[in-house]
Amino acid sequence: MNPILQCKNLTKTFADGKRKVPVLKGIDLIVEENSLIAIVGVSGSGKSTLLHLLGGLDKPTSGDVFWVGKNIKKLSEHKKCQLRNRYLGFIYQFHHLLPEFNAIENVAMPLLIGGMDIREAKNRAIEFLDHVGLQNRALHKPSELSGGERQRVAIARALVTHPQCVLADEPTGNLDQKTAEQVFQLMLDLQKQFKISFIMVTHNLVLSQKMQVCYALEEGRILVG
Ligand SMILES: Nc1ncnc2c1ncn2[C@@H]1O[C@H](COP(=O)(O)OP(=O)(O)OP(=O)(O)O)[C@@H](O)[C@H]1O
Ligand SMILES: [Mg+2]
Repeated sequence: MNPILQCKNLTKTFADGKRKVPVLKGIDLIVEENSLIAIVGVSGSGKSTLLHLLGGLDKPTSGDVFWVGKNIKKLSEHKKCQLRNRYLGFIYQFHHLLPEFNAIENVAMPLLIGGMDIREAKNRAIEFLDHVGLQNRALHKPSELSGGERQRVAIARALVTHPQCVLADEPTGNLDQKTAEQVFQLMLDLQKQFKISFIMVTHNLVLSQKMQVCYALEEGRILVG
């Protein structure tokens, strides 16, 4: 069986004018089914860069990313978008919800992009808002929700397609301690329920230790924490 997500000898160097900034210097990572991985590292260590590469949102300088055994370098842009939509979910530090759409519409968006009929997509979105405890906020727009509620909508949006793996970039970094813990616990509960793998970037060492595996990103390399 192929792992859900894998990268081999991944490097990324940003060219900043004449200066070259090597950020990732050879990352190997395997994400199996139903796993919970934390990645910790100081600001600027390359955590977001790594998630972008794993999600196929940016290209590595060298090395390869595989989604369920497929080398994404070899896929057309169209195919990559299709597989990203099918296999992966994303949760960002600042929710990235679309301001002009309500919670249902935001959660339904990846399903609509994947070609699902609008009525079914909305029904599924409502079901997932229920999973994150927001059934009574379904018609609210992001500006009418609290920070924790917005993150819960973002979680529902990431999970609604039943992805194989969710890439979460400091999903609780912008929340107060108590809300962060609640949102984090919700992610753990949903992970267990749906058996989705999670890679979560965090600054919060207490939360990272609740994950199965904790990797540290240091000097462009992965260390097992
Ligand atoms: N497009 C870019 N062009 C040039 N340099 C970049 C670019 N994107 C990121 N970098 C540099 O790469 C390094 C890693 O950035 P990255 O955003 O991955 O860090 P991070 O670990 O996610 O930090 P934080 O915890 O603050 O979010 C930083 O030094 C940053 O300045
Ligand atoms: Mg970052």
